Amino acid sequence: MKKIAALILAAGRGTRMKSETPKVLHELLGKPLIEHVLDSLSAAGINDAIVVTGYGSELLTEKLKNRGVKTALQKDLLGSGDAVNTARALLEKDYENVIILCGDAPLVRPETIKNLAEKHIASSSAATILTAIVKDPSGYGRIVRGPNEKIMKIVEELDARFYEEAIEEISSGAYCFKTKDLFESLSEVKADNGKKEYYLTDIFNILHGKKKAIGSVVTKDADQIIGINSRADLAEAAAILKARVLESLMDSGVTIQDPATTLIYPGAKIGRDSVIYSNTVIDSDVEIGERCHIGPFTRIRPGVRIGNGVEVGNFVELVRTTIGDGTKVKHHTYLGDTTVGKKVNIGAGTITANYDGKTKSRTIIEDGAFIGIGTMLVAPVKVGKDAKTGAGTVVLKGRDIPPGATVAGVPARAIKK
Ligand code: UD1
Ligand code: CA
Repeated sequence: MKKIAALILAAGRGTRMKSETPKVLHELLGKPLIEHVLDSLSAAGINDAIVVTGYGSELLTEKLKNRGVKTALQKDLLGSGDAVNTARALLEKDYENVIILCGDAPLVRPETIKNLAEKHIASSSAATILTAIVKDPSGYGRIVRGPNEKIMKIVEELDARFYEEAIEEISSGAYCFKTKDLFESLSEVKADNGKKEYYLTDIFNILHGKKKAIGSVVTKDADQIIGINSRADLAEAAAILKARVLESLMDSGVTIQDPATTLIYPGAKIGRDSVIYSNTVIDSDVEIGERCHIGPFTRIRPGVRIGNGVEVGNFVELVRTTIGDGTKVKHHTYLGDTTVGKKVNIGAGTITANYDGKTKSRTIIEDGAFIGIGTMLVAPVKVGKDAKTGAGTVVLKGRDIPPGATVAGVPARAIKK
């Protein structure tokens, strides 16, 4: 028997999203909700995961294909308790404990998952709940504690009495169980509530009745347990995640001139003493070196690697492009599928034509080249070391410019060697 597996509940349609797309596939800063949860789990060292699919299960299973997770199909969406039951055969014989997470709660931190699992495993509790104290508990299950602060049950909002509604301790929807206790009690859960669903959360009252201990981890960082039920929740989560990313970059020595207008996706790497100016968007698959100046109004898309001391200015878009140390790309430029060397100057309005309607090709600009304003480089093409192009030059594909040469015109012709 292995110590622990994760079970992620993701079968719900997410009615309140008003969408064709299954809720957990909605994107949050470049990544579907469910991927945030799976990534946090692996970062916490929990690698065996089962995802319960239901609404849009084919699409979801397809998206999860390369993640190395198992899936269990919930045929009728009868509630979170029923969802857990669909994975019974995958869990019961092989895992001593199970950590259950909601696929629609993407902000839970790896440290929190790890702490919850470790605390549970070290205890003799049948279950351990991740809870938080919040000012506005609406929409969440309330934690009802009895004498000695013991958890007696979780009450869902629809079924809460007015004095229970006022409880500010909520369930995050993340819990650990001893697998045996989970399935023993789950079979006793009934759909006798406001929603006529089998609530997983009813299990705590059943465990309490059996005198089984229920532990808790109360997190102070309530932002991380937000569950996405609507587009407004999605925007709220994006704002929280965005602030988290910017804070950690600032902590590591990056200046963010105007956090309100700067969007940097989680995973982007930026070196110390770099400055990011306002209205800049940087994707997750991007690495930027030290002492760079990026923005204002720059968009850096996936697959970009930027060296040290590079300047990328206003209205510049970069994708799948490498830029060497000390290079300047300061105004109104698009570089796609391009390799730029060191100490290159890219003039205003330079465009790489990387796509001919069928294939994408690369442009190479070697060290020390000087690209004149308004140059069009039709890929595949190479500009040699220290070569120059005049203003408005169009360099046709395959017409590589030799090192040190100067070209101008449409199409480009050599002016001097
Ligand atoms: C749930 C919890 C609530 C908790 C909150 C945290 C229940 C009954 N309530 O409420 O205590 O505070 O999450 O965000 O569990 N799902 C299935 N199959 C189903 C129904 C749901 O897989 O038949 C999945 C959903 O995809 C979702 C999760 O279970 O990921 C929770 O379901 P949801 O309907 O969002 O429950 P909440 O009302 O948010
Ligand atoms: Ca939810």
